[in-house]
Amino acid sequence: MKKKLAVLLAGAMVMASLAGCGGGDAAPAETTAPAAEAPAEEAPAETEAPAEEEAPAEEEAPAEEEAPAAEGGTISVGFAQVGHESDWRAANTQNYQDTFSEANGYALSFVDADNDNAVQLEAVRTFIQQEMDYICIAPIETAGWDTVLQEAQDAGIPVLIVDRSVDADPSLYTTQLGCDMVAEGETAGNWLAEYLDGAEAKILVIEGSVGASATLGRTEGFNNIAASHSEWEILDSQSGDFTQAGGQEVMESFIKSYSDFNVVVCQNDNEAYGAMDAMDAAGITYGVDGDVIIISFDATHDGLQYTLDGKINCNVECNPLQAAFAAEVIQKLEKGEAVDAQTIVKDEAFVAPGITSQYAVTMTQEVLDGRAY
Ligand code: AHR
Repeated sequence: MKKKLAVLLAGAMVMASLAGCGGGDAAPAETTAPAAEAPAEEAPAETEAPAEEEAPAEEEAPAEEEAPAAEGGTISVGFAQVGHESDWRAANTQNYQDTFSEANGYALSFVDADNDNAVQLEAVRTFIQQEMDYICIAPIETAGWDTVLQEAQDAGIPVLIVDRSVDADPSLYTTQLGCDMVAEGETAGNWLAEYLDGAEAKILVIEGSVGASATLGRTEGFNNIAASHSEWEILDSQSGDFTQAGGQEVMESFIKSYSDFNVVVCQNDNEAYGAMDAMDAAGITYGVDGDVIIISFDATHDGLQYTLDGKINCNVECNPLQAAFAAEVIQKLEKGEAVDAQTIVKDEAFVAPGITSQYAVTMTQEVLDGRAY
């Protein structure tokens, strides 16, 4: 339904309000600004690109109760999800299924690609054949998207790139929304610098999945800070694939290779759980009372429990509750309104009790009790 209208809007009415942003791993907004192509009478005043230096606003989630389909019909949405590799992913999937429900006026076709690029590409092609009204893609990797995005555009289906980002030409998709992964990495680095206060660091990094923007961004952000700390040495950096088993396997291998390290950076909570298991088995202590500082990402409920318990020193959030932003984009397109080229979902960081930081909130039971995922 309403696909032709959506096609017109997707091509001509993406707002350029985030142009010039330094959104790290996100698509450069200035190349996504098609305002000049919009029919003069339809171009709202706010489509004008802001000054180059304007940073994209971090967004609070829109209200949960989305309006039903504009004309009372059902809106079909195909969602090609990364997989089920982590607790974060499970929360993200649940959030999409709750938001894009029949009661809210949607028919959601969900595919779990199990971290397999070929499966994810095939899912998107199936959504195109099925003539979905909209397609959401949480891309496993940044690379390899131009052809299928062109196919979706040729079929007139607006595509929302969600959670992660792609390195494709931004004119091939309607919008990108997710957390700023580079900023997350920089927060982790800034916190570590503050905590160590000039002391030496011998650092081991358990990266996420190879080629994922979450991995690339967090690595880039952390390295940006490490570059100005000559007292830090990054001993090794290996992929744990964002899984607990992967984190454990990489940590076991690190323990065999390195006898002297005092920081382990895990690029998500599940990897941190695996790394802690490996260190427990090797008799290595960690956390606020241990020999090794642990930094994690995601700040899911269990990750924050470990942070509250002092086992994880610092946990940088990546908010999985992003479906309301996608629904907001779709509702705007349904109504013929302009949408932002990029939305950055707001997140924060948390540190164990006893630590105070300008970069993070000190964990309390109250913070944990308020955690929705
Ligand atoms: O893209 C978000 C990342 O993907 C999360 O940090 C991780 O847990 C997930 O697998």
